[in-house]
Amino acid sequence: MTYPSKRGRDGIGPPRRRSWPTETRPTCRRREPTVSTTPKTTTLRQPLLRGIDLAGLTLPNRVVMAPTTRARAAGPDLVPTEMHAVYYGQRASAGLIVTEGVWISEQAVGFTNVPGIYSPEQVVGWRRVTEVVHALGGRIVLQLWHTGAASHPDHLRGEPPVGPSAVNPHEMSFTPGGFKETVTPREMTVAEIEKTVEDYRVASENARRAGFDGVEIHAIGSFLIPQFLSPRLNLRTDAYGGDAVRRRRLLLDIVAAAAAAWGGRGVGVRLSPYWTSGDAFTADEATLAHYDELVSELDDHPVAYVHLRGRDVAEPGATPDFDCIARYRQRFSGPLIANNGFDRTSGNAVVEAGVADAVSFATHFIANPDLVARFALDRQLATGDQDTYYTGGAAGYVDYPVTEWPPS
Ligand SMILES: Cc1cc2nc3c(=O)[nH]c(=O)nc-3n(C[C@H](O)[C@H](O)[C@H](O)COP(=O)(O)O)c2cc1C
Repeated sequence: MTYPSKRGRDGIGPPRRRSWPTETRPTCRRREPTVSTTPKTTTLRQPLLRGIDLAGLTLPNRVVMAPTTRARAAGPDLVPTEMHAVYYGQRASAGLIVTEGVWISEQAVGFTNVPGIYSPEQVVGWRRVTEVVHALGGRIVLQLWHTGAASHPDHLRGEPPVGPSAVNPHEMSFTPGGFKETVTPREMTVAEIEKTVEDYRVASENARRAGFDGVEIHAIGSFLIPQFLSPRLNLRTDAYGGDAVRRRRLLLDIVAAAAAAWGGRGVGVRLSPYWTSGDAFTADEATLAHYDELVSELDDHPVAYVHLRGRDVAEPGATPDFDCIARYRQRFSGPLIANNGFDRTSGNAVVEAGVADAVSFATHFIANPDLVARFALDRQLATGDQDTYYTGGAAGYVDYPVTEWPPS
């Protein structure tokens, strides 16, 4: 899958400007799946189809659905709808589903039409999703998200967003009025940081009440947790900044708070050490050394798995760099989920090599609800329509077909 520009190539950056809003969307939105007429061997012995115990969860395969923001929560209350239940239910054959990033609080909001997990109504909406996924034999964890300084006053009733320090991250925020440049955030007080950690605890508890099998901490991209990790955005000199150990503290506090709801089983943590964006996020040696220490430290915390977004592939279809994942394999003794640019072949290879325990797929799961079956049968994959990634509605969300029979 190719993305022409960094900004907006996926849900951890805003969507590309040119695709939102648009009134000239192409009518032919995606290529229908085609399959070879040559008979294929059913390849059930591939590594991705081996079961695995992932920190207490028994997965029938290692094909994980990666978190994908789809901006389908209609209405100001940001409640997931019946369409969310259909969307995730269609993908229940994944070894594990990680939901889209979900707001832990009103202050966390930084993208339009993304659901939350901080109100009773949201818990009820998510309960319907987990019931459907479980009824269909699946497992599902909720990704907890806070955008911090990457939000915009338009999401926050005119108030400035909060961040580690009063430094504008110079990102773009997707607001109801379109794309807007981020502003200089308000530096969080220690009391506000503690309140935010408490919000994670409550959101995690809400996820358990909604029937999820666990939670994953969204610590990737340009959002609140990476802002605290960044020496360019975190200029604090208190317990949450000043040196690398203190810049890591917010994430470790959040892990401990969120894990409390899960009786010692731990939480997933999603990291992107190779993320680059503007001046604030660069994957230089200092950053990578920091992540080495961070991942080693996570090994001593209640972390169920590390979900790693590796380096971007050099070109579409290129094999992802396994070494950039292996670097963290040495530092974390629990399960490792690899992500970014994998397909059936490279996914099987990275598991077979022992570099990762499972592989997550984002864009392939958007367009192929039956991705596991397609891998099992070695069927060609459909390509998703980027123009409907964030547009709301059923089109490009719940209408991707499963693989056809007979093959055309
Ligand atoms: C539409 C879209 C939305 C995304 N939303 C999220 C998100 O909510 N949380 C997250 O951690 N990553 C998000 N991502 C990043 C993906 O999980 C993944 O890292 C990226 O797409 C690379 O994986 P892939 O090559 O399998 O697509 C999103 C990606 C896409 C394409």
